[in-house]
Amino acid sequence: MTDIASLQSDILAQILAAGDETALEAIRVAALGKKGSISELLKMLGAMSPDERKTQGPLLNGLRDCVGDAIAARKTQLADAALEARLKTETVDVSLPPRPELQGSVHPIAQVLDEITAIFADMGFAVAEGPDVEYDDYNFTKLNIPPDHPARQMQDTFYVAPQTDGSSHVLRTHTSPVQVRTMLNQKPPIRIISPGRTYRVDSDATHSPMFHQVEALVVDEGIHLGHLKWTVEEFCKAFFEIDEIELRARPSFFPFTEPSLEWDMRCDRSVPGKIIFGHGNDWLELGGSGLVHPRVLANCGIDPVRYQGFAFGFGLDRMAMLKYGIPDIRSFFESDLRWLRHYGFAALDIPTLDGGLSK
Ligand code: DAH
Repeated sequence: MTDIASLQSDILAQILAAGDETALEAIRVAALGKKGSISELLKMLGAMSPDERKTQGPLLNGLRDCVGDAIAARKTQLADAALEARLKTETVDVSLPPRPELQGSVHPIAQVLDEITAIFADMGFAVAEGPDVEYDDYNFTKLNIPPDHPARQMQDTFYVAPQTDGSSHVLRTHTSPVQVRTMLNQKPPIRIISPGRTYRVDSDATHSPMFHQVEALVVDEGIHLGHLKWTVEEFCKAFFEIDEIELRARPSFFPFTEPSLEWDMRCDRSVPGKIIFGHGNDWLELGGSGLVHPRVLANCGIDPVRYQGFAFGFGLDRMAMLKYGIPDIRSFFESDLRWLRHYGFAALDIPTLDGGLSK
């Protein structure tokens, strides 16, 4: 009993005298560590008679708690004192200029992607995604491009070695397989855009083996070409931030749409190195589109008698080149920091869409 009381006052005195955290930790280990004085006493409880244990147990546990609390209190005290001392000695010179920091910038493709997503979100479109390594079936067959059909030659494809389970994969040549994935998983009404990376065996100033597209898909009852035209028009006005545009639809062919159209926008290229949209004698290609082929709807489990759809697929890189005057597509992917500093955007720039959607 006296042993416990004197041990306690002894340890408490040591705690109070501890000048720093290291000393305090040494005291803790000596008392409460595995082989500490208090731990050794606690171990003896097991060998005691029940009566002895009844009296000694609470005393020893009390000792352990009291020492534990005292250590914690001293620790806080020491930390407070250390902080106090630092505050007294350290000063901050607020008049000093900030240290230069390496600042990154947002890549024009990422910026354009944010802008396009914002515009379509305004029109009620969700964003859908799919993998870059895609089933041959989704990239081609379900989109009405059967194996061995000449239409496959429209796209120079990177093929992936055949899989052991018999499925064959390609690097997706367009974002259109996301249409398939969406229709297989979702019932109409469907309204999605799908931006992402696409791959083709191609490389020059306007083609890169890896590039970006944005796909749009709407499936509902009674969808017609008017809906497609309105959507393309509103999107272009918002994206290029101009109120007046003139679009031209050219008949085209895609196996997954019927009818198929390509869209051009009127522009003026008479000033070298500049494109002015909205007027002029030139036309600028935007991309392909059409009404979703009934066979594609049926391939994806959607009743083509009840539902119709429209879709389009535009090149994201192309849109960025046009809007921000970037002459060579390959520069997007060269990671030249000087280029990125010139064409990049500040991280906190919210997409500016002054043109906006006309409501
Ligand atoms: N997938 C086509 C391509 O990469 C572009 C395209 C055309 C997408 C028509 C569409 C569409 O959704 O309806 O060449």
